[in-house]
Amino acid sequence: MPASTRTALVTGASAGIGASFARHLAQQGHDLLLVARRADRLEALAAELRAAHNIRCQIFAADLADRGTPEAIIGYAAGEGIEIDILINNAGLSGKTAFADTPWDTLAAEIQLMVTAVTELTHRVVPGMKERRWGRIVNLSSLAAFSPPGASLLYTGIKSYILNISQSLDMELKPHGVHVTALCPGFTHSEFHDVMGTRRTADHLPAILWQQPEEVVREGWQAVMKGKPVCVPGTVNKLTAAAMRPIPTNVGYFLGNRLNPFKNG
Ligand SMILES: NC(=O)c1ccc[n+]([C@@H]2O[C@H](COP(=O)([O-])OP(=O)(O)OC[C@H]3O[C@@H](n4cnc5c(N)ncnc54)[C@H](OP(=O)(O)O)[C@@H]3O)[C@@H](O)[C@H]2O)c1
Repeated sequence: MPASTRTALVTGASAGIGASFARHLAQQGHDLLLVARRADRLEALAAELRAAHNIRCQIFAADLADRGTPEAIIGYAAGEGIEIDILINNAGLSGKTAFADTPWDTLAAEIQLMVTAVTELTHRVVPGMKERRWGRIVNLSSLAAFSPPGASLLYTGIKSYILNISQSLDMELKPHGVHVTALCPGFTHSEFHDVMGTRRTADHLPAILWQQPEEVVREGWQAVMKGKPVCVPGTVNKLTAAAMRPIPTNVGYFLGNRLNPFKNG
């Protein structure tokens, strides 16, 4: 085992950016604990990565929208003698219907998945990281956190929360050897738009706006290793984020209201 071998917990590892993070970390020789709901996908990926990289790779199939899941994951890891050195808080999705038309249980599940579970998992792994004086946490935010508040339900607000707390956590934890990065991708090829039901609209967007998950992961991982609290991957995304920053609130509201291609009714 290489001296630098660490163990990474990757949520949402059954597809897209999370699967790409799992591959990237496995290539570097790190052991893995993969989480998502689709156990068959996780099993297949774990088998592939064990065979290709001779790493320890375990899976924990669970729904992160269930309140007990973060505690169950950490309990499982402790039982297996796994110390989490790297946390990739990646699992996520965007709502499909307008706020008022969406049942409360659906909205609550989104908040549980992308706000509470992210925060709780972080809170549960940080003490061990601090004790060992080494930890790396990547929280998936989005370019949406910089963009005007479009009619994208809770998503923009949730990703803004992730962008904000990641920086606060980085300030608190960096003196203890723990880096926290908010990774803020723009449009990335994955299953995200299939799940959201916006594949047709997404496919009409210019190719220049899109990145492959591997590009996002490479830049995000470099950022957390270098101790950068915020990473917007890709030149086009960086320019977009920079252009959005000085927009006055009322102009942002106007643009968000008029230009969002995924606007819900
Ligand atoms: N793709 C983009 O354009 C884009 C842009 C900016 C930010 N992001 C963010 O990047 C992250 C990854 O998205 P992606 O593009 O890779 O999407 P994706 O291909 O749809 O993958 C989402 C992952 O999250 C998991 N997941 C969803 N709901 C879950 C739940 N309730 N419990 C456990 N796991 C759950 C899915 O696994 P199961 O279905 O097997 O549970 C899947 O592994 C998200 O946080 C997303 O908001 C994506």
